[in-house]
Amino acid sequence: MTPDQKKIVAAEAALDYIKPNTTIGVGTGSTVNHFIDLLAENFKGQIKAAVSSSVASSERMRHYGIPIIDLNEAGRLSIYVDGADESNHQLQLIKGGGGALTREKIIAAASDKFVCIADASKLVNVLGDFPLPVEVIPMAQNLVARQLKVLGCEIKLRAGFVTDNGNIILDLLGLQIEDALTLEHRINQITGVVCVGLFAQRPADVLILGEADGARKVFA
Ligand code: A5P
Repeated sequence: MTPDQKKIVAAEAALDYIKPNTTIGVGTGSTVNHFIDLLAENFKGQIKAAVSSSVASSERMRHYGIPIIDLNEAGRLSIYVDGADESNHQLQLIKGGGGALTREKIIAAASDKFVCIADASKLVNVLGDFPLPVEVIPMAQNLVARQLKVLGCEIKLRAGFVTDNGNIILDLLGLQIEDALTLEHRINQITGVVCVGLFAQRPADVLILGEADGARKVFA
């Protein structure tokens, strides 16, 4: 089974969490793209609305006729479905490989249940092999980079990339993240940082892993 087929297995299992005629939060990425396709197929005309974490996901859902509404209009959401770049066993995540980390974090914070879907390779013992994305206000690039240097990581500007919010991404390479909550708070304190792609303060509630023999649910 290919990694992509495993993503489909995870996305399919997330459908169990969807109730007709509700407004749902929907994230971004290749696994979520499968989820959107399956949602449209299995809940045709039955999704009241979606709050989306990116322009790309909004466009995909609109194509299927799923109404997109603003989070301010939706209020609190009962469920948010999104992928991850890495998860540890506490379901703390690295996200933002697709650059949508800030909106993803906002929707996760506004949701009662965060269902994370991924192929099985995303579950790790220690976060950090995947570069940690940090969304930064463009004029603060060097200011922020100088302060991130003390973490002892390599800092790479995501070249030619602008977030949906008009900002840049600095990717942090070579971290071994043992205390994700402390690091999340520390990076968020730096002036000029919009958001770091560590989801420790608000981890996932359930991680659905697509494996060769089906979907496996992991709880913290
Ligand atoms: C988007 O910014 C990310 O947080 C995605 O959720 C994450 O990169 C997972 O993407 P894939 O489903 O494509 O692996």
